[in-house]
Amino acid sequence: MKFFIAILLTLICVVFAKTPPNRINRANIQWRQFIIGGTEVEDFSQFAYQLSMRYVEIHVCGASIIALHWALSAAHCFENNVFPDMISFRAGSRDRFEGGIVVNAEQFFIHPLFDRLSYDFDAAVVRTIEPFIGKDVEVISLIPMGFWLTPGTIGTISGWGIVDEGHLAINLQKLDLEIWDQHECFVKWFGEITSNMFCAGGEPGYDSCNGDSGGAMVVDGVQVGIVSTGATTCGINFPGVYTNITHPSIRAFILHRTGV
Ligand SMILES: *[C@@H]1O[C@H](CO)[C@@H](O)[C@H](O)[C@H]1NC(C)=O
Repeated sequence: MKFFIAILLTLICVVFAKTPPNRINRANIQWRQFIIGGTEVEDFSQFAYQLSMRYVEIHVCGASIIALHWALSAAHCFENNVFPDMISFRAGSRDRFEGGIVVNAEQFFIHPLFDRLSYDFDAAVVRTIEPFIGKDVEVISLIPMGFWLTPGTIGTISGWGIVDEGHLAINLQKLDLEIWDQHECFVKWFGEITSNMFCAGGEPGYDSCNGDSGGAMVVDGVQVGIVSTGATTCGINFPGVYTNITHPSIRAFILHRTGV
């Protein structure tokens, strides 16, 4: 009997060893364990593209300014029957609660192929009523279509996502992460990765987390990714997953909807 149990346990271990951690999106909808390991942004002017996207004034996601009247975010930030008139953005402030300007959404467009189970095509754009104009409010340019990112490139993410046990950050946090080779990313996530995604990070203790979704990953002043998903527990030894903006299916969607 003991032998049988030992075999059974071994079998169970083998099965679990082959299962990646559950993937969860990084919107501030379900609470999840903490950690990002970033540092507070001192000079917001370097992150003037960063937006706090709110449903009825409660921060749910990040987003970036890509044109005078357009924000870019993640598709999964618009699940749960959201209506445009519930959505607004705070721009121009590193403080999530005050400062800068508040801009209201007019309409949003989710990538038509977005898959809520795999997080494939996790991109959405929002047209705003008021323009993004103000101090420390700036457009970020997007990586061109089909541009190849060299593995090992360092990208910077930022957001007001969870920094400690269940608390969103008050002041914007930033973190540098290494972008993975596409094939290694695919292998690490047991094939649950498409070319519309890429991996970054994976060093324990350094990760995006809930509330960071929709925010930009930036390389040399150009947005290359959108915070999308990752392991259920932020900051374990699994890389976070980012929407690959350079991929033609993502880039063409943005261009088609916004002209950017
Ligand atoms: C993103 O998409 C581009 C274009 O299809 C592809 O060449 C690249 O390998 C993907 N991943 C990264 C990290 O750029």
